[in-house]
Amino acid sequence: MPARLYMDNAATSFPKPNVVLEAMTDYATRLGASPGRGAYAEAREAGELMQRCRQRINALINGEDENHVIFTLNTTDALNLAIKGLVRPGDHIVTTWMDHNSVLRPFNMLVASDGVEQTRVPCDPQTGLVDPDLIRSAIQRNTRLIAVVHGSNVTGTVQPIRAIGRIARECAVPLLVDAAQTCGHMPIDVRADCIDLLAAPGHKGLLGPLGTGFLYIRPGVEKMMRTLREGGTGSVSEHDTQPTFMPDRFEPGSHNAIGIIGLSEGVQYLLDRGVETVWEHERQLIKTMVDELAAELPGLTCFGPQGVANRCGVFSVRIEGYDNPAALSDVLEQEFGILTRSGIHCAPLAHQTMGTHTLGGATRFSFGPFLTVQDVKYACDALAQVCHRNAVAAHG
Ligand SMILES: Cc1ncc(COP(=O)(O)O)c(C=O)c1O
Repeated sequence: MPARLYMDNAATSFPKPNVVLEAMTDYATRLGASPGRGAYAEAREAGELMQRCRQRINALINGEDENHVIFTLNTTDALNLAIKGLVRPGDHIVTTWMDHNSVLRPFNMLVASDGVEQTRVPCDPQTGLVDPDLIRSAIQRNTRLIAVVHGSNVTGTVQPIRAIGRIARECAVPLLVDAAQTCGHMPIDVRADCIDLLAAPGHKGLLGPLGTGFLYIRPGVEKMMRTLREGGTGSVSEHDTQPTFMPDRFEPGSHNAIGIIGLSEGVQYLLDRGVETVWEHERQLIKTMVDELAAELPGLTCFGPQGVANRCGVFSVRIEGYDNPAALSDVLEQEFGILTRSGIHCAPLAHQTMGTHTLGGATRFSFGPFLTVQDVKYACDALAQVCHRNAVAAHG
């Protein structure tokens, strides 16, 4: 059995930096208290560590206020809070065909149950890119929200988020960005990009554990939002109504303290290394994959942008002869020890855009900061071996 090579960072990142694991162990063995739920030293320290995580995330994305970083369970939870917090019956909402089910499904739920109207803007079938002018044309008088995936979890397409942000700001429609595949991998500046709501996982590019995520809410936008859950916050306990101040307004219930304290160190790791440096490294990996796959491997199709521009480290491929992409994942795991993810990747409209939805989807490789150029070459070499073997079997 070959050594294991984890290439499923789009699902969750692995490995995590040691500092993340050390912080979680320290919390579990030394503190253990629930943040904000007591005045004793351990509870206070746990609360301070959580606040530090907000500060670090706020610094990473150039947010305006650390208290507008709301901790969530994952990206899906953050997207649901943004979407259902903002949208009301009779509103119109805009998204794209490259978006993930964690936007498409809440949108469809609102259409079915609240009489909300939606426009799904098509994307280029080759690159997966959306034309910002089509977003502009989709905006109506009653448009309440535009939700756009930053980096596609199918093709790695990175959408022109700044151009979309400027249009949204000009039209005074809040922009929600799903940064599940980009936050921590590449620089994101919510102010420069005119992002009103940024939903991101803690457990992918930010290198924290599963069960973490956040929603950044631009100051002022929270006034348009209702809460989805109410309950104890450890603050103003004498009142039986939800506090209106941030972040407590959107954070009822005991926190995932161990996860958030681990996440904090993942974010600090990125701040220390510099997200630009991480991105530069991931661009090297992307360039290696693009160059190696440009060698015209027999029967191989790689979807999405063909160069390094407008893409992140997510690549989906199909090889002729593998009708079921899971069979390719199986060969990659069994023979080469490479861990990939096959199927529709919770993005049915993205696969429709690429024309792969009726073929069972594709096989996805996704990068993280600890992979090397040699790892990517090894994966490309494995693909080349499978392609050549297949071509010989098919044509003799
Ligand atoms: C583009 C995109 N959006 C949203 C999600 C949902 O993320 P989470 O698993 O953190 O809820 C994913 C997960 O893979 C994703 O790739």
